[in-house]
Amino acid sequence: MTPATAHDRPHVRDLARDVLRAPDLATKLAAWPADVDDTPRPHDDPPPRAPARAPELAIRTGPGTKVPPLEGMADPAQRARILHAFANHELQAVELFAWALLAFGDAPPAFRAGLASTLRDEQRHMRLYLERLEALGGRFGDHPLSGYFWGKLDELDTPRRFVCAMCLTFENANLDHTLDYAAAADVAGDAETAEVLRAVHADEVRHVRFGLRWLDAFKEPGESLVEAWESTLRWPLRPELARGRTLHEAPRRAAGLDDAFVRRLADADGRSGP
Ligand SMILES: [Fe+2]
Ligand SMILES: [Fe+2]
Repeated sequence: MTPATAHDRPHVRDLARDVLRAPDLATKLAAWPADVDDTPRPHDDPPPRAPARAPELAIRTGPGTKVPPLEGMADPAQRARILHAFANHELQAVELFAWALLAFGDAPPAFRAGLASTLRDEQRHMRLYLERLEALGGRFGDHPLSGYFWGKLDELDTPRRFVCAMCLTFENANLDHTLDYAAAADVAGDAETAEVLRAVHADEVRHVRFGLRWLDAFKEPGESLVEAWESTLRWPLRPELARGRTLHEAPRRAAGLDDAFVRRLADADGRSGP
């Protein structure tokens, strides 16, 4: 048997481009093989600035796109809207990690491998939320889909800015949202939804740790992690968006945030909401 060559394996850039070009969910969520080719391709086209989407998945602005508050968990119809909104966050995460794989072709291979591994997790998260949504009688596309994260594309244009915004702000905040919504799902008697939220939470700890590890690599010597993070964020991104109403310290510690970083989050007003 001949050993596998790079040509036998799909190239990570082709997989990433498929995620962005395909209008359908089946392609966007198709599981990537564990073994992918990531040899440099310096002359590839730049990534698109918006994802292809089937008409029912089109990004919309305006009313009806916000995540309903925690209290909505008690009502199955509102719970379905919450799961719909969370699934939409995961879909944008899948697409934006694909975008990053196309945009940051020169980044260190270990960083790119981490982006691909996070993308696989985001695909799985979306599938889990979709299962719960469907169990509650909902369907993805029932409600307007916000493009909140795609709207921040200008804030993601370097590896450093990408990890500061995606991993250390949005995923950081999700450490709180997942725990709070899981507790509310338990109270509502929906253990399956609570379990999904806690599974996403466990992965999110790793995603925040990934962001922290690479911010440490990208920052200037002498800068603290929290200084490097905050000085990278540009309004409207700000520490308030990196936490929920209740700051859960244990997952921050598990992700490797130091005292100064946790203190900065504790000082931020947590009422901005997802
Ligand atoms: Fe996720
Ligand atoms: Fe994540």
